[in-house]
Amino acid sequence: TDYWVVVPAAGAGKRMGADRPKQYLPLLGRPLLSLTLHNILSWPGLAGIVVALSGEDKFFPYLKEAKHPLVHTVTGGEERADSVLAALQFLLEREDEDTPVLVHDAARPCVALDDIAALLDISTSTIALLARPASDTVKHSLSVHGVPCVEQTLDRTQIWLAQTPQRAPLGLLHSCLSRALEQGEMVTDEASALEAYGHSPQLVEGQGDNIKVTRPSDILVAETILRLRYA
Ligand code: CTP
Ligand code: MG
Repeated sequence: TDYWVVVPAAGAGKRMGADRPKQYLPLLGRPLLSLTLHNILSWPGLAGIVVALSGEDKFFPYLKEAKHPLVHTVTGGEERADSVLAALQFLLEREDEDTPVLVHDAARPCVALDDIAALLDISTSTIALLARPASDTVKHSLSVHGVPCVEQTLDRTQIWLAQTPQRAPLGLLHSCLSRALEQGEMVTDEASALEAYGHSPQLVEGQGDNIKVTRPSDILVAETILRLRYA
């Protein structure tokens, strides 16, 4: 079945601290967002992509993928969840509520096709996300006179680190995300908005190379992964 992909790309890239938003920094000589869109355009069964851009964005029109017939844009918002919601609103005006939607960070250009296939290979009504089991020991902290100290060690076997894409039916994702934002829930990903209303998203184990380009050191790592991927 066909599905849509929402790409939040309206962030400022503060932790990267570059002269432009990180989604427009060159990786192997090509803008990060261009690489991510190029990757998504190769996914089987893709119906279209909605990219959420900052109202101040000046770079997007110069990307090779900007004029692709499957690529649409909307203006994003203050937080990532606002940007995703704007894209979902665009889709609700055009598509059926049952349409599967995958939300994928602009900042994750390296996701492998095998991981996408695994995420697509489950029933269309299922809520699911790519994630990795934690490999380090996980400490829950508390602040003692401003110094972070261990409050307890969590059971690592139960800890997963969320990646994207995260998938859900369009109507359900839109209603949970808009309710969660109205009620001031902490929504750092799509799954958390669905969890807030009793859903239990399925964890699909992805590969470790689906990194989110966040800090300067991530650029070299992403370039190395991409060089192997596209070699
Ligand atoms: N994003 C968005 N709208 C926002 C904030 C973030 O669409 N208001 C997007 C980013 O462009 C990115 C993804 O959400 O593709 C993941 O967010 P993050 O990695 O935190 O990117 P930034 O917010 O740009 O980075 P930072 O937090 O360091 O400023
Ligand atoms: Mg951010």
